[in-house]
Amino acid sequence: MKKFDILKVKDYPVILEALIVDDENVVLEGVEHLQEKREDATVEKHVPFIEEKEDGYLVKVGKEVAHPMLENHYIQMIEICIDDFLYRKYLKPGEAPEAYFRVPKGGSICAREYCNIHGLWSN
Ligand SMILES: [Fe+2]
Repeated sequence: MKKFDILKVKDYPVILEALIVDDENVVLEGVEHLQEKREDATVEKHVPFIEEKEDGYLVKVGKEVAHPMLENHYIQMIEICIDDFLYRKYLKPGEAPEAYFRVPKGGSICAREYCNIHGLWSN
């Protein structure tokens, strides 16, 4: 396990994030380490797409076709990691499946999102 890993508590509707990990070999009981998926095989697109803007970054879920944002199927959060900073936006059904992060530019950039049906995705 490493910093920023996402964990699902078994039998509970709770998802946790590893904030600080001093021993990467630690194995926790009662939690499932969610693996980030990176390739879409379904009609709905999940891989987050990052667009660099003048004063930050726009992260969209679904580059050409937006992911659904229905009551029973939607993107719950979008994150962008910029160097050692992590920024997150929580979304609700009906909102656009995207997040604008007005933040300083960085060298190392990645994005993740969590779909309540299809799980964790990264670019
Ligand atoms: Fe989905």
